[in-house]
Amino acid sequence: MIGVFDSGVGGLTVLRELVARFPHADFVYLADHAHVPYGNRPSEDVVAFTRGCVEDLFQRGAKLVLLGCNTATAVALRRLQQEWLPRSPWAGTHNVLGIVAPTVEAATQTPWAITSPQYPQKYNTDTIAVFGTTRTISSGVYPEEIRKRCPKVTVVQQVCSELAGAIENEAPESALEELVAAGTQAALQQTGNMPPHRAILGCTHFPLVEHLFRKHLPPFTRILSQPEVVADSFEDYLARHSKYLAGNEGGKLSLLTTGDPDDVAATASVFWPDVAKFAKA
Ligand code: DGL
Repeated sequence: MIGVFDSGVGGLTVLRELVARFPHADFVYLADHAHVPYGNRPSEDVVAFTRGCVEDLFQRGAKLVLLGCNTATAVALRRLQQEWLPRSPWAGTHNVLGIVAPTVEAATQTPWAITSPQYPQKYNTDTIAVFGTTRTISSGVYPEEIRKRCPKVTVVQQVCSELAGAIENEAPESALEELVAAGTQAALQQTGNMPPHRAILGCTHFPLVEHLFRKHLPPFTRILSQPEVVADSFEDYLARHSKYLAGNEGGKLSLLTTGDPDDVAATASVFWPDVAKFAKA
């Protein structure tokens, strides 16, 4: 069984792609509605809540957990992998992964394992725009990891602090478009109106308004589909670590929330129209 974690229902954009890609794998999805949204919270809270949810998923039998949330990945993943997991009872048998690494790999066309500039990337002078929550952007994880591999790439970052909440609350299309337009304009101001080569929608909610980013970014800019690049990378990881697929019961899916399952149902269907029912974690 594979665990997928998000602060709320945004990670369903990632889970949906994984379920389509691995129809015979069992998944358990945990949404931390008791503490959502994470995007504007202090880092220590994000680390503590994420660790608690990963522990919960491990206790339920998931040996591999994917943080299907940019904020949790950006703020908590390194701490969990380097400080918590090696000292936990699950050391050596369980693992936790995130969604920043596959996105950086796709944006830089460089494998994650390569952490220094390589030919021809060292001549790569592209511009990459990153859109995310306050906490993801302030973590600096995207520019840091991109520049390790491609130091000559220009990375512009833009906080879209209200966008995830507006999507989750089913704000009208015009309100969503205003937020996207403000974000893209601010990003383009940073590039001096030069179109970025690629745009990372670095928040699990943003694929739902990709059409609005498409409308407000120059046609030249390629938008990376995070659920797709995460699923590509996960496929590659599972091919190398098939032990995490052992004991699967043929495609069981369970959806859990730390909040009220009835409250979650309507919002979840925005992200995945025929999604199964959530249960209380
Ligand atoms: N899922 C989160 C992300 O990808 C956004 C929602 C939140 O702020 O909790 O950044």
